[in-house]
Amino acid sequence: MLSQNHLHVSLLYIVLLTGTKYGCGGGGCGACTVMVSRYDQLHNRVLHYTVNACLQPICTLHGSAVVTVEGIGSTKTKLHPVQERIAKAHGSQCGFCTPGMVMSMYTLLRNKPHPTMEDIREALGGNLCRCTGYRPIIDGFKTFCDVSNAFNLFPQASCLIQSTCLLTNHVFSFDYFDTCSRMGKKRACGSLCFQGDRLKLISPVDLTNLLELKTEYPEAPVVVGNTTIGTNLLLYPYVLFVIYLLCVHVHAGVSVGAVCTLSSLKEEMEMAVREMEAERTRGYQALLQTLRCLAGKQIRNMAVSPITITHRYRSLRPDEVLLSIDIPYSKPWEFVSAFRQAQRREFAFSIVNAGMKVVFKEGSNIVESLNIYYGGVGPTLVKVGLTPQALRCSALGRCATQEAACRFSDHVSLFHFKTSDIDPSEALGMTGVVTFLSAGDVPGQNRRMWFNNPEELFAEEEVTCVGQIIGAVVAESREQARRAAQRVKVTYQDLLPVFFTIEEAIQHQSFFDPKRKLERGDMDKAFETVDQILEDEIYLGGQEHFYMETQGLIAVPKGENGELELFVASQHAAYTQEVVGITLGIDSNKITCHVRRLGGAFGGKVMKIASLSAITATAAVKTGRAVRCVLERGDDMLITSGRHPFLGQYKVGYNNDGTIMAADITYYSNGGCTLDESSFIMEKALLHMDNAYRIPNLRGRGLVCKTYLPSYTAFRGFGGPQGLMVMESVLHEVAVKCGLPPQKVREINMYREEECYTHHKQLFSPRDMLRCWDECLDKAGYHDRLQAIQQFNTYNRWKKRGISAVPMKFGVGFSKGFYNQGAALVNIYKDGSVLVAHGGTEMGQGINTKALQIAGRILKVPMSSIHIKETCTGNVPNAAPSAASFGTDAVGMAVKVFQRSLVSDLFVLSRQLPWTMTIGAYCQKVSLSATGFFLGPHTGVDWENSEGTAYYYFTFGACCSEVEIDCLTGDHKNLRTDIVMDVGESLNPALDIGQIEGGFVQGIGLYTIEELQFSPEGVLMTRGPSQYKIPALCDVPPQLNVHLLANAQNPHAIYNSKGIGEPPVFLASTIFFAIKEAVAAARRERGLGDSFPLSSPATAERIRMACEDQFTEMAPSPKKGTFKPWSINI
Ligand SMILES: Cc1cc2nc3c(=O)[nH]c(=O)nc-3n(C[C@H](O)[C@H](O)[C@H](O)COP(=O)(O)OP(=O)(O)OC[C@H]3O[C@@H](n4cnc5c(N)ncnc54)[C@H](O)[C@@H]3O)c2cc1C
Ligand code: FES
Ligand code: FES
Repeated sequence: MLSQNHLHVSLLYIVLLTGTKYGCGGGGCGACTVMVSRYDQLHNRVLHYTVNACLQPICTLHGSAVVTVEGIGSTKTKLHPVQERIAKAHGSQCGFCTPGMVMSMYTLLRNKPHPTMEDIREALGGNLCRCTGYRPIIDGFKTFCDVSNAFNLFPQASCLIQSTCLLTNHVFSFDYFDTCSRMGKKRACGSLCFQGDRLKLISPVDLTNLLELKTEYPEAPVVVGNTTIGTNLLLYPYVLFVIYLLCVHVHAGVSVGAVCTLSSLKEEMEMAVREMEAERTRGYQALLQTLRCLAGKQIRNMAVSPITITHRYRSLRPDEVLLSIDIPYSKPWEFVSAFRQAQRREFAFSIVNAGMKVVFKEGSNIVESLNIYYGGVGPTLVKVGLTPQALRCSALGRCATQEAACRFSDHVSLFHFKTSDIDPSEALGMTGVVTFLSAGDVPGQNRRMWFNNPEELFAEEEVTCVGQIIGAVVAESREQARRAAQRVKVTYQDLLPVFFTIEEAIQHQSFFDPKRKLERGDMDKAFETVDQILEDEIYLGGQEHFYMETQGLIAVPKGENGELELFVASQHAAYTQEVVGITLGIDSNKITCHVRRLGGAFGGKVMKIASLSAITATAAVKTGRAVRCVLERGDDMLITSGRHPFLGQYKVGYNNDGTIMAADITYYSNGGCTLDESSFIMEKALLHMDNAYRIPNLRGRGLVCKTYLPSYTAFRGFGGPQGLMVMESVLHEVAVKCGLPPQKVREINMYREEECYTHHKQLFSPRDMLRCWDECLDKAGYHDRLQAIQQFNTYNRWKKRGISAVPMKFGVGFSKGFYNQGAALVNIYKDGSVLVAHGGTEMGQGINTKALQIAGRILKVPMSSIHIKETCTGNVPNAAPSAASFGTDAVGMAVKVFQRSLVSDLFVLSRQLPWTMTIGAYCQKVSLSATGFFLGPHTGVDWENSEGTAYYYFTFGACCSEVEIDCLTGDHKNLRTDIVMDVGESLNPALDIGQIEGGFVQGIGLYTIEELQFSPEGVLMTRGPSQYKIPALCDVPPQLNVHLLANAQNPHAIYNSKGIGEPPVFLASTIFFAIKEAVAAARRERGLGDSFPLSSPATAERIRMACEDQFTEMAPSPKKGTFKPWSINI
């Protein structure tokens, strides 16, 4: 008998193969993609298709073959060509998404050995990657295309594999036909029943059997693809699982059977469109348009069409079964259109969609009938009454959006409670539950001080946000722990007042200390002499890290002297060790943290993982057993929070020629309920506020708001993207007011002298920044394209284009000088092999590869003789976090420093000893082990006097992007981006370009599509990839050209290189400003001003409403305070 867990999912948990990854558990990321092969009796063939293992109940695979990534090749045996090519094209950074990508591509090749680029795009449409920016993945996979169509997506990039490719016809070694057909024929013989300890799954053999079962179990849901019910399957005692019923067939149109998948329907429709006269298939063409964007390929392979198209399950009675739907051919004078607008162009639920059919009287333009239906505006489709008023209202995305999101609402209020108000007794009585922990169980300190502010592990008396941890259940299995946690009872008393937004925090004057200020020049005097003064503000929403691997660890008590080992996904192992020590009340020397690699981190695995580790360690100590804790995606998003939302309010004084003489900016960030790293992040925003501009009188004030939200934390860029963005808004608005092109105003105000001082009096040379800027505009053909865009805009009423370029100066290293240090340990063994351990953590940024390169270069041994060990607090103690773009600098220098000394020792003592003869050195009693310590720069800022060398050095860059917007829907397309980046002398151009592209694409998310939505009660509603959209393949500009600045030097860092992890995120602000330009073009045409508010991210809804016109006038924004919004800008 399968256990309860095993009944509903998944290869992930059953076969104990670790290649298939958990990224979201809801079909929204593709990390768990596997290939299913099933015999198709009707056509006597074997179908191969991808599914999301996280939604695929194991029982439903009876009679099918499943191939996971382990089944196609591995480093232990031999890589499959698909795996090899993704590796060779550097298509993997953290690698967490890679198995899913590989399986999607593998399955495509199974079905179509010579795919087109369009096929590849479609196959990967349901796979997300948070690291790479997709370009290298596509580069690797497009080598499977015919050369003639291989370069459509990224035409500028060339094939990186070329002659070393394995040939496609070696791709498959195993033919599944015999096995699958045997299993399939056997499977078709009878009904199946799977009995779990709480759930019974029955698969009927035919329709009669299904109806009988339906009578017997009227409340049992009929499940086919399981993409709606998902893990909620467990809520039912009985489930009827339908695998075989009617499929597609064609008569006077297409009749779609109840188990026909969306993919099969799409194929049939495409065939009909190809083979029939266009006028008969107008309806199919419209449907296809929608089907292409509906979910990802895996979901389309699983979900069934009738249910999806009709959403009939919402109106069916429990004893009803949907058998099929008919989609008729269109008639000669009948026209059908479909529209959808989603948060992301593909792989996203539509916010609103519409189907329209108009029938004209033959040979005339007289309308005989008109039918319009809207989806997304209510629980079922809404038919538009054809009064002019109703038609006008339904045309507006805005009213639709507000209604649609009501499905999220989930009322929770804030709480005051005592630990005695927690009652875990019911949970403790449940099967498999081992124990419950709360503040009273912490042997050491539950509350610790962090820069004079308290941080609690478990809430002690007050819950200050929805998502704060108050207790933890330990159980034998994940599912048991999850269920039991829901049964812990907590009694709360409401605590007032509570508030969530920056605006409310300002009203309550609720701020964390310290409040920071930087200032140069004489503001008051400057404002007296300028031609113009402008006051405005910009709001920037936050961002979820959405690392593909959620936070997790295993804590193992060693049973000797209280020793404890943690295998933890942390960017800062030493801090985790410290917090665990404080929590348990034991010394750090008894706690060892091991970090092998992380499935992405982006700043999110510095602080929060330490708390999670401390909780898990407490559980391990209390139970005396190894305890694993892995956050589910929704919990991870709720608990760990992300990038700070910012509000920048500014007053700027400028002359009519665009010269900015004074800017006074106040930055507010929403810090949430505890300080975390918020004040450092605010400092970085202030330190970056000047960006590339020499504004003689500049003042920045930074206040971190204390609100009742989960605490915000570090995120790639660490305040830089917000600090820079506000300044670029200032430049943009001044240009608009002066009637000058923004790039001209940027140039007028740039730092130009060979020796310049930042607003905090740090000396630097802007030479390479100016070179990046000039080269970027040149390579982008900025001026010519600007003209072409103006022409395009003149000839297009509802589509507008915009182009924008920004320069960038970004500080590398920690402004808190003590963090600028690095350490490494190197052991050389008697056989000449070398072991390197360093304090950095590998999370996809390539730190290990660079450390290998540096070690190989110093020791003059092949990289194959060097092995990099896991990061371990026992090997390299007190290491700084891998952050601030400083990891490689610190680790690289440490490796270099120590190896230099080791090499010279060996040379002095052993005279030209070859490495292969280290045994000789050993016999001469030379130590073959040494540590290297890099004493980094003494950076620091004197905030009282607004001065200090905050950064080790600056990384420069420039970026130019072009977009096209649809003024009616607010949709936008990223057309082209050119980046020129100064990385000094790149240690590894492939890694550096990967970081630039990945950072840039993450920035696209930040500034255009990633929107965190909170209810007015402070509850995060966007808790997974279904609601929160990170960029997918479709969001990457088809032309993404990255150039590294030639002949750039950096004497400060290892081998003249430069840190690159954080800076590129900000470059995506060009997309935001290009959108602003396009909107301005639309507004100009309607006689409206160029100056208009646009918050970040520039979502479809915001773009649509900014393109004011007769339609938006029909739905004026209701007055603040007169209604309860469904979501608030925090
Ligand atoms: C990541 C993701 C993205 C998605 N994106 C989109 C999108 O962009 N647009 C969109 O429209 N949808 C989207 N969906 C929803 C998807 O279309 C639905 O989940 C799908 O239609 C359900 O089909 P299924 O076979 O999986 O149904 P199941 O989950 O198996 O069942 C769904 C419901 O229908 C009932 N049911 C199923 N078959 C029958 C039948 N024959 N007779 C009576 N009742 C029946 C079940 O009892 C259940 O209540 C997405 C889903 C996911 C997971
Ligand atoms: S884990 Fe299955 S799709 Fe995300
Ligand atoms: S490499 Fe794709 S998520 Fe990290």
